[in-house]
Amino acid sequence: MYSQGLIGADSSTTESEEFLKTFQARVDREEKIEPNDPMPEGYRRTLVRQIGQHAHSEIVGMLPEGNWITRAPSLRRKIALLAKVQDEGGHGLYLYSAAETLGVSREQMTEELLSGKAKYSSIFNYPTPTWADIGAIGWLVDGAAIMNQIPLCRCSYGPYARAMIRVCKEESFHQRQGYEIMMTLAKGSDEQKEMAQDALNRWWWPSLMMFGPSDTESTNSDQSMMWKIKRFSNDELRQKFITATVPQAEYLGLSVPDPDLEWNEETKLYDHGEIDWAEFKAVVKGDGQMNRDRLRARNKAWDDGAWVREAALAHAEKRANRQPLAQEAAE
Ligand SMILES: [Fe+2]
Ligand SMILES: [Fe+2]
Repeated sequence: MYSQGLIGADSSTTESEEFLKTFQARVDREEKIEPNDPMPEGYRRTLVRQIGQHAHSEIVGMLPEGNWITRAPSLRRKIALLAKVQDEGGHGLYLYSAAETLGVSREQMTEELLSGKAKYSSIFNYPTPTWADIGAIGWLVDGAAIMNQIPLCRCSYGPYARAMIRVCKEESFHQRQGYEIMMTLAKGSDEQKEMAQDALNRWWWPSLMMFGPSDTESTNSDQSMMWKIKRFSNDELRQKFITATVPQAEYLGLSVPDPDLEWNEETKLYDHGEIDWAEFKAVVKGDGQMNRDRLRARNKAWDDGAWVREAALAHAEKRANRQPLAQEAAE
C-alpha cells in the first residue's frame, strides 16, 4: 500500500552490523529515539513514509466531513462537527512537524500529496451522501483510527509517540460524537434507522480495510515490529476493532453486514468474513469513487491559499527587517 516517492529515495548508505545492533539494543531497552540520534536509514525512511501518510490522511480526512458542516441538522451538531474537523487539521499539522524532525520538508510532503504521489488512507475516497455517514465515520473510522493509534503512543520514535498521545485523546471525542449521532438516528423514525443501517453497511468493510493488508501480505510489518514502530499486526488490530465494535452495533439495534461474523470462544475475538482485497487495491491505486475529487479539492485549497502564504512571508520579512532598527532605538 506504500509508494516510494521523492521522500527517502536515497538507499545508498551502508551501515555496519555493529551500528545496527547498537540501535536495535536501544529500541529493545524501550529507549525513545530522538531526532538527532543516529538511526538506520531504513528506520528513518519507514517513519517518514508512515508519518507523512498519516498527516496526509488527517488533512484529506477533513473533506468528506467538511462537506456536511453547512448542512448539519442543528447548531449543536454543527459546533461538534466543526470542532472535530478542526481537530483533524491540527493532527495533520502536528504530524507534518513530527515528520520534519526526520529531515523532510513540509513543502516536499505537500508537493507529494498534491501531485498524487503520496498515499493517504483510502477510507477517505468513499462518498458521504447522507448525514448518517457523519455518524458512521466518527463511530467506525475514528474508532479504527484509535485502535491503530493507541499502540503508536508507545512508538520507539519520540516525536511521533508524543504527538499520538494528544491525538488519541481527541480521537475519542470524535468517536463519541459519531456514536451519539448513530444512537439518535437508530432510536428515531424508521427512515432514520434505515439511514443509520445503510451508513453502517457502506462503512463497515472500508473501516476494516483501514488496518491494511492481512499479515500474510503485509511486507512492511515485520521490520516495523522489530523497530517497535508497530506493536501489533494488522490482523490483530482488525480483530480487536471488530470485537470492540460488534457489541456497539448490537446496542444500536443495527446489524453488521457480515454473515460470516462469528464469536471465537478460544481466542475471545470475532472471526470475520472475507475482505474484498480487490476493492482495497483498486481504491489504493486511485480508483475509489472520490480519489480524483479529493485531490482536486486539496489542489484548489492550496492554490486559493497562495495569497495567504505570500502575505505571511511578506509580513515575516517586514518584521525581520524592522528588528535591527528597534534594537538601535533601545541602545
Ligand atoms: Fe485525527
Ligand atoms: Fe478523528
